[in-house]
Amino acid sequence: MDSNSRKVVLVTGSTGGIGIALCKALCEAGYRVVGNCRCPEKGAALQNELAEMSHELDIAIGDVGDYESVGRMIRSIEESIGPVDILINNAGVTKDKKFTKMSKDDWDYVINTDLNSVFHCSRHVIDGMIERKFGRIVNISSINAQKGQFGQTNYSAAKAGIHGFTKSLALEVAKYGVTVNTVSPGYIGTNMVMAVAEDIREKIVAQIPVGRLGYIEEVADAVSYLLSDKASFITGSNLSINGGHHMY
Ligand code: CAA
Repeated sequence: MDSNSRKVVLVTGSTGGIGIALCKALCEAGYRVVGNCRCPEKGAALQNELAEMSHELDIAIGDVGDYESVGRMIRSIEESIGPVDILINNAGVTKDKKFTKMSKDDWDYVINTDLNSVFHCSRHVIDGMIERKFGRIVNISSINAQKGQFGQTNYSAAKAGIHGFTKSLALEVAKYGVTVNTVSPGYIGTNMVMAVAEDIREKIVAQIPVGRLGYIEEVADAVSYLLSDKASFITGSNLSINGGHHMY
């Protein structure tokens, strides 16, 4: 077993498609997994789903868009379970609109949930990681940070900001055994992607060389690798998982 796999891992946005796959894969790999979400009922449902697979998942309720709420959540995890060794900043939302129709609220909502959350969560766990000389942070970005997408100025800006954050923090904490990486999924078969109008989605899928949407498990597997001992020399990187949809 990988020596990192007994560590405590916090997955934000755990009740979304990729979040669920992450929780399952990391429980299976033996990590002590804590799934964050805002809604206690959704958290309990995920916990029950994993319990049926004989996996013990802890749920941490908190709003990742709120710095104080994240602080309370992290303190409560530390008291009841232990320090967070691994953070996966996965929580994300969309509010797709042409820029000329985008309101300030549409902008703020996405920037706060998708980008400010990465600051909030990382800031509350980083000192402990540095002290313990071990940490892994994986930030979930998007293909649309890399290539842009009609209707996603807010989302593309937030997700591109994530990778700038990754590179700078990776530089600052490398000498303490903490790695910080970005994973950029392309179009994966999640509710978020299925919410795109069918005609638009079909045109997008037609642009994917592999010829299909990605599977949530394919993202979880790549994240698992970045958490393992085998990836200790990988930091500040941006791993694309997009079926060849965008290459650079
Ligand atoms: N490229 C170029 N032009 C486009 C376009 C595109 N992709 N999409 C719409 N248009 C054009 C239309 O042809 C139309 O032009 P005319 O006015 O000249 O006829 C015009 O824009 C329509 O404008 P509307 O303001 O009426 O826009 P809409 O309401 O029809 O659609 C939108 C706007 C909802 C943002 C739509 O473009 C859309 O769904 N885009 C896809 C967004 C997307 O891919 N989201 C990904 C969500 S999943 C995710 O984000 C996960 C991840 O990380 C990958």
